[in-house]
Amino acid sequence: MRCGTLTYHLLFLLLLSALVAVPAAAQDETGNSCIDCHTDLDGKLAAPAMTMTEDVHYRRGLFCQDCHGGNPERGFAEGDPELAHSRRYDWRGAPKAIDIPEFCTRCHANVNYMKQYNPSLRVDQLLEYRSSRHGELLAEGDENVAQCVSCHGVHGILSVSDSRSPVHRANIPATCGACHADKALMKPYSLPTDQLAKYSSSVHGVLLLERGDAAAPACNDCHGNHGATPPGLNSIANACGECHALNRDLFNKSPHKKAFAEMELGECTTCHGHHDVTKTGDFMIGTGDKSICIDCHEDGEAGFEAAGAMKAQLDSLKNILASAEELLERAEQGGVDVESGRFDLQQARNVLIKARGAIHSFDPESFTKVTETGITEAGIVMEIGEAALHDLWLRQVGLAITIPLILLVALALYWKIRRIESPKH
Ligand code: HEC
Ligand code: HEC
Ligand code: HEC
Ligand code: HEC
Ligand code: HEC
Ligand code: HEC
Ligand code: HEC
Ligand code: HEC
Ligand code: HEC
Repeated sequence: MRCGTLTYHLLFLLLLSALVAVPAAAQDETGNSCIDCHTDLDGKLAAPAMTMTEDVHYRRGLFCQDCHGGNPERGFAEGDPELAHSRRYDWRGAPKAIDIPEFCTRCHANVNYMKQYNPSLRVDQLLEYRSSRHGELLAEGDENVAQCVSCHGVHGILSVSDSRSPVHRANIPATCGACHADKALMKPYSLPTDQLAKYSSSVHGVLLLERGDAAAPACNDCHGNHGATPPGLNSIANACGECHALNRDLFNKSPHKKAFAEMELGECTTCHGHHDVTKTGDFMIGTGDKSICIDCHEDGEAGFEAAGAMKAQLDSLKNILASAEELLERAEQGGVDVESGRFDLQQARNVLIKARGAIHSFDPESFTKVTETGITEAGIVMEIGEAALHDLWLRQVGLAITIPLILLVALALYWKIRRIESPKH
């Protein structure tokens, strides 16, 4: 009997401690069995539950089961994963790389579903992805290529506007470069691995990566976000023209458009390069050693003549601008106000900038029309400068005449006073 009472007491104590212990442990629990159990696991199995707090999906109230399926209400208390990983609750498990695009776009290509969250978010990622080189090769079972998770990450996916996102503008070159600059990974494809290095030292790369100027293109501006393919040779002008619209329009109407297509030459890239676009200069045109025109046009050809004529026009504009500038400076040093001349000079300088774009017509006649407006404008500045210098000259001549006159008068007065003051003889 005594022994039995002791057992009852012990049982009672055990029960009590269990009742106290359960609420204490429950403080760390979320009530989502997936998170609660996975947090207690190790390594790869725990990581998803640990890194989810910043994820856009988690923040919009989407949890493990929304992607993976399963029942988030069972399994943890019972200590049995199978109750959570339940086929009755559309359990999908962890997708293989080849299945990830469909796994993600079950939602992202579902217009009605996505509208509930964000009507302005694009829903064409799958369509675009499938048309990309990445998508084509993944469909053939090649798991080296990029799929959704290679570019966006997983279990910590950030909005593309978050500066920490791997696809935020300034991070894109490194994200693409992680594979494209990896010699071992790229070996089977006989593709160059220099895109990131060349891009980083190009005008575009320096502008974006070193100066933080978001107007410069990252890899995706020329290749597309999801449809990553090299722009076809005949659509390069359009890819560049997204930003350089004037150059595109002129090029498309130029004799080079058709000629380059026939010779299978890249539109803008034949003259400027693609990943290694560098700063341009007037040395590029004309018939001098560094001119690119003479790479294709020989003496006697229309192209050669045009290159020489256009360079001569450019030089005339630059020379008259330099003379006009010098005139204004001399007038200013003499103290004459040439404010209006400065304004006109700026206008004429803008024409020079415009002319460097207008080269892309590769038509000396229409090019000359542009440079002529600059030359006329600079001519007006010359007139203003000359008038100012004439003014200055008049003032100087005036002074040259008046000073001796004043001296003469002063001398005469002095003479007079001396005569009045001197005692009478
Ligand atoms: C009781 C603990 C427990 C619960 C609850 C649990 N899991 Fe798991 N989970 C595991 C363990 C252990 C593994 C590794 C062994 C396995 O695959 O079953 C695992 C594996 C996984 C995997 C990888 C499977 C694969 O195919 O490689 C995913 C994904 C996963 N769990 C998601 C979930 C989701 C979603 C929930 C909630 C609906 C959930 N888990 C609930 C313990 C749990
Ligand atoms: C936005 C969709 C999404 C959400 C939400 C999500 N996962 Fe995953 N999870 C994936 C994808 C995709 C993979 C496969 C990743 C890969 O192969 O690189 C994966 C893989 C896993 C794996 C296998 C890890 C491995 O390296 O083998 C586990 C375990 C897992 N998820 C658990 C969870 C848990 C737990 C949660 C909730 C805390 C969760 N996931 C939330 C998409 C998601
Ligand atoms: C090669 C890299 C890459 C792959 C693969 C990729 N994305 Fe993207 N994703 C990007 C880039 C880059 C952006 C745009 C960033 C910007 O707009 O500045 C983006 C944007 C997005 C956006 C925001 C809306 C939009 O379309 O602009 C969503 C959603 C998205 N991706 C989902 C996906 C899904 C789903 C997949 C798989 C089918 C996928 N992505 C595959 C690079 C990638
Ligand atoms: C259960 C549905 C669902 C699944 C599956 C899903 N997403 Fe999402 N995703 C959403 C919703 C909803 C949003 C939030 C939209 C918002 O609020 O702007 C979102 C947002 C995003 C964004 C942020 C877009 C932005 O605003 O910049 C990216 C990137 C993204 N998802 C990528 C993925 C990737 C990659 C996968 C697969 C691993 C995936 N998603 C799977 C529903 C889903
Ligand atoms: C996970 C690795 C990986 C990532 C990340 C990745 N790529 Fe790729 N990409 C590849 C592989 C592998 C190929 C296949 C090579 C081929 O085309 O034969 C490829 C092919 C391409 C091609 C086609 C090249 C050709 O001429 O066949 C382009 C263009 C491209 N990627 C651009 C990008 C851009 C832009 C990004 C970033 C937004 C990116 N890639 C991110 C691995 C990756
Ligand atoms: C200013 C536009 C532009 C930018 C920025 C750009 N590319 Fe390209 N890329 C091109 C063009 C144009 C081609 C096609 C060249 C040809 O076929 O003559 C190309 C070709 C490629 C190819 C095919 C192989 C090769 O090298 O020719 C890959 C891969 C590639 N780019 C990846 C990238 C990556 C990665 C980045 C970012 C680090 C990037 N590109 C940035 C315009 C660009
Ligand atoms: C996303 C916008 C964008 C795209 C796409 C783009 N560029 Fe640019 N590019 C810029 C910006 C911004 C600058 C720097 C400002 C400037 O000089 O116009 C620049 C500068 C240049 C320069 C140097 C101009 C100078 O001052 O000497 C050249 C040449 C050039 N780009 C050619 C190209 C070519 C060729 C392509 C296509 C293969 C291209 N760009 C695509 C935005 C772009
Ligand atoms: C990659 C080769 C290449 C380069 C570089 C090149 N051209 Fe051409 N150009 C051609 C071809 C091919 C044609 C068409 C055949 C022809 O008329 O010579 C052409 C035609 C022309 C024409 C029309 C000629 C006519 O018959 O009416 C002019 C003008 C011209 N180019 C000017 C220039 C100038 C100026 C430059 C330097 C800025 C230049 N080209 C650089 C290949 C080139
Ligand atoms: C036949 C050679 C040739 C082709 C093709 C060509 N360019 Fe140029 N580009 C030049 C020359 C020459 C200059 C230098 C002008 C100067 O500084 O005197 C130049 C200058 C530029 C500049 C700097 C001047 C400015 O307009 O701001 C940009 C940007 C540019 N090119 C973009 C492009 C784009 C985009 C394309 C394709 C639509 C293209 N170019 C096609 C020869 C070419």
